[in-house]
Amino acid sequence: MRILLIGAPGSGKGTQADRLAEHFGVTHISSGDLLRQHVRDETSLGKKVKSLVEAGDLVPDAIVMDMLRKPVLAASAAGGYILDGFPRSVEQAEAAYAVTKKLGVAVQVAIHLDVDKAELVRRMLARGRGAEDTRDVIEHRLDVYAEKTVPLVDYYTSREWLLHVDGTRSVDAVTELIVARITERLARRHG
Ligand code: AP5
Ligand code: MG
Repeated sequence: MRILLIGAPGSGKGTQADRLAEHFGVTHISSGDLLRQHVRDETSLGKKVKSLVEAGDLVPDAIVMDMLRKPVLAASAAGGYILDGFPRSVEQAEAAYAVTKKLGVAVQVAIHLDVDKAELVRRMLARGRGAEDTRDVIEHRLDVYAEKTVPLVDYYTSREWLLHVDGTRSVDAVTELIVARITERLARRHG
């Protein structure tokens, strides 16, 4: 199974992706986690992206796509993926679709985790993940989300490609909702 998780910073993508990966037996791939790992390891990619990640700006599309190609193919061969944090714009979605469609590993279900801004800010301040979770950078990440990713949510919605899920409920309740929605969608496709 190949799943996308889309949501604002702090909406619970990473939290839910871990649980869904286990439930469906697929590999969790997080573009943000991979980028942060490169920064920590001081790889050449990490050095290129450090200031962007810490400022909450998007990394150039080509860098993210190159970084994800191998893990996405490997996960697809091993039973599927849940991608968290990619695509993040209409441009990334179109580019990724062109590549994955050819290889037969395009996405099957996309989930949008819907959480209001006050709750997002509360969660990120409570988490405090380094430079990324300071008040100014949180505001900026939310602005980038509004500018780049909300149009992607609209684009997918207009194609009936996306399931909207209330992400403000408890972690367990959100997982249950997502599992139910995905199961229902797959049953309808195969039915
Ligand atoms: P990325 O790592 O994707 O960060 P993000 O989108 O800002 O999201 P977060 O990881 O902060 O939040 P999350 O939705 O995973 O929530 P979490 O589960 O942690 O990207 C980081 C950076 O990398 C970007 O800014 C950019 O620079 C770059 N980047 C990444 N992808 C890119 C791309 N495709 N293109 C270009 N650049 C890219 O939960 C948050 C907190 O809330 C946690 O403490 C959690 O315990 C808590 N929580 C979760 N669920 C609940 C709940 N239901 N109730 C209460 N608390 C909850
Ligand atoms: Mg995350």
